Amino acid sequence: MSTSIDRGARGAPVTVPEPMTLAAALRSGAARLTAAGVAAGRVDVELLAGHLLGTNRSGVQLAALRGDAAPAGLEELVTRRAARIPLQHLTGLAAFRHLELAVGPGVFVPRPETEQVGQVAVDEAADVAARRGAVLVVDLCTGSGALALAVADEVPLAVVHAVELDAVAHGWAARNIAALGAGQRVRLRRGDARTALRELDGTVDVVVTNPPYIPPGAVPVDPEVRDHDPGVALYGLGHDGLAVPAGVVAAAGRLLRVGGLLVMEHAEVQAGAVRALVEATGLFDSIATRQDLSGRDRMVVARRAHARGGS
Ligand SMILES: C[S@@+](CC[C@H](N)C(=O)[O-])C[C@H]1O[C@@H](n2cnc3c(N)ncnc32)[C@H](O)[C@@H]1O
Repeated sequence: MSTSIDRGARGAPVTVPEPMTLAAALRSGAARLTAAGVAAGRVDVELLAGHLLGTNRSGVQLAALRGDAAPAGLEELVTRRAARIPLQHLTGLAAFRHLELAVGPGVFVPRPETEQVGQVAVDEAADVAARRGAVLVVDLCTGSGALALAVADEVPLAVVHAVELDAVAHGWAARNIAALGAGQRVRLRRGDARTALRELDGTVDVVVTNPPYIPPGAVPVDPEVRDHDPGVALYGLGHDGLAVPAGVVAAAGRLLRVGGLLVMEHAEVQAGAVRALVEATGLFDSIATRQDLSGRDRMVVARRAHARGGS
């Protein structure tokens, strides 16, 4: 870094470091993050700078071209990101569809692949609302409230009930619902998704859910996930990680009205097993696997049918 010469109190020359330019800080930050194994180091350092400057990546790039100084605190944030603290924990925000949600320690950071799960729920809810003038949606395992809030945001006639087991995650969801002024239409419940909301049995139009589904032995490689997403958000219990999802499917079977839609995220390798467990309830038809935006099998979609052999 270049330096300039100044005069101290007694006239002795002292060396005062010149502030690093933003362009140089972005270059060195990106190199540090890449060396630390962060996949998109340049993007992350730009987002961290944008967080400090109150602007987006384009604003950061423009400021760098202008020759602006790096903002105070950028180096510290880069150091923490290089220690593989999730970007969203450093900025306190996660983008999800049209929303920015508050996130931090103790809550699952919403993922881009879940946005497509949200799209299926939004499309179905909008369709029902257009036909009936109202639509009832349930988000099981809501975490930060991402899916519930996205549906409420994009389908103005929707009433959404959201269920979360974990106290800390429930607190983040409550905070997001309040911050977005959505309390009238998003009703949050602390409880077990497998048994909650019995008063809504047989009345719900859409159940959307991204439950925990990772098998016990499949510990995620990325430190951001392994060390910072809560275990209760990741591991679906049972030998294959599908114990919680199976309970969630059973809950959807009792919550949905006949003709209502279940949309549930799962891991790419679980598509066949998840279709089989939905089929085994005897409560659904039109059971299909759908893909995320990168073409991977990431969700099951099924319609509540009349129960086989009766009710
Ligand atoms: C993979 S995270 C998904 C969070 C959010 N739906 C999203 O997509 O960002 C799963 C969430 O389910 C919650 N959870 C785990 N088991 C649950 C259960 N039995 N009942 C309700 N919530 C549960 C976890 O605490 C976590 O917040």
